[in-house]
Amino acid sequence: MIKIGIIGLGWMGCLHAQYLGSIDGCRITALCDKNAAALQKTAEEYQAAAYTEYRDLIADPSVEAVYIVTPQKYHYEIAKAVMAAGKHMLCEKPLALNQKEIDELRVLSRGYSKKIIIDFPQRFSIATQEAVAEIKKGALGDIQFMRCNFRFSMKKHAAIHGAWVFDKTQGGGLILESSVHMWDAVRYMTGQEVESVMAVAHNNGGANFEDSFFCIANLSGGAIACVDMSGWLPENADTDKRFELIGTAGAVYLDEHKNYLSIQSERGVENNPGMFTTGMTHKDVMWHSVIAGGVKRLDEHFIRCIAKDEEPLISLEDGARACEITWSVVKSLESKKLEKVHYGS
Ligand SMILES: NC(=O)c1ccc[n+]([C@@H]2O[C@H](COP(=O)([O-])OP(=O)(O)OC[C@H]3O[C@@H](n4cnc5c(N)ncnc54)[C@H](O)[C@@H]3O)[C@@H](O)[C@H]2O)c1
Repeated sequence: MIKIGIIGLGWMGCLHAQYLGSIDGCRITALCDKNAAALQKTAEEYQAAAYTEYRDLIADPSVEAVYIVTPQKYHYEIAKAVMAAGKHMLCEKPLALNQKEIDELRVLSRGYSKKIIIDFPQRFSIATQEAVAEIKKGALGDIQFMRCNFRFSMKKHAAIHGAWVFDKTQGGGLILESSVHMWDAVRYMTGQEVESVMAVAHNNGGANFEDSFFCIANLSGGAIACVDMSGWLPENADTDKRFELIGTAGAVYLDEHKNYLSIQSERGVENNPGMFTTGMTHKDVMWHSVIAGGVKRLDEHFIRCIAKDEEPLISLEDGARACEITWSVVKSLESKKLEKVHYGS
């Protein structure tokens, strides 16, 4: 039975707690939040030890794996403390807020004997897994092109997660906060690295963050990619996230939030071919679904990796690279030029 401690019990921390509570082979033994009232309530629910200081949770000998689910401005210092204590670690995205922090975490993670995963649940959504399985089988041939669209309501996002999310000094702004998911999807689905980027952005009347942007990228295998995002959907609209991949032999169109997957290959055109999705509803397959969505599947995967001593699908290096791409995107907005992406300083 793997014993877990969760630091940060806001929207995402409670979601992880809920999923972990239903996964065999693990138990939540400790919880931590600065907000003592929220902490007490959740600690009672899970019959876990309650801490207001993260260092006390990390030092708790009953805790084998630490979930870091605080706002990102604390990820670096908490991740360093977890690695100093030699425990398994899930760290939320984005991994850190600047290059110095990433460099240090990268060095600490090299040869680290315990398991680390960064929470990019996109990789575990059922539609993505089905598309990746097809790509690995060669159904698309060599990938030449990828497009990622991500639209949501900033107002709804800020109401759920807190306005800090879009404050550049605290959350990193829309590009670091949210587009890391897209850049990880580009790297994961194409199997190519992002080499250079060029972006344009829309900034709402002097606010300290971009509310929409388009970015084009050159990839290491010769493909090109485009990531475009907007936070301007109306408050009652569903989040909208779509991917297109085109290769020398076929194409994939994927709409995660509508559970739509279309594959064109030498086999013909297949809509929702259903390798994994047959019999599942929209709610079953969504990214944040309580039933079988990406976050729950990622949690299950991480627990299995710890139990069976297997390598998690998403490394600290993956979390670092997604951040480093976003910094080059911001640099390109400033220079108005194509910027090379640097991995490590
Ligand atoms: N992977 C995903 O798909 C995904 C989705 C949403 C959020 N996130 C990430 O999860 C993290 C948390 O987001 P959220 O929406 O739950 O935020 P939130 O504001 O709802 O919750 C954050 C919680 O952390 C607590 N906290 C703050 N500083 C702390 C500290 N030093 N020690 C202990 N507790 C502290 C706060 O009191 C709060 O309860 C962020 O990094 C966010 O980017 C990831």
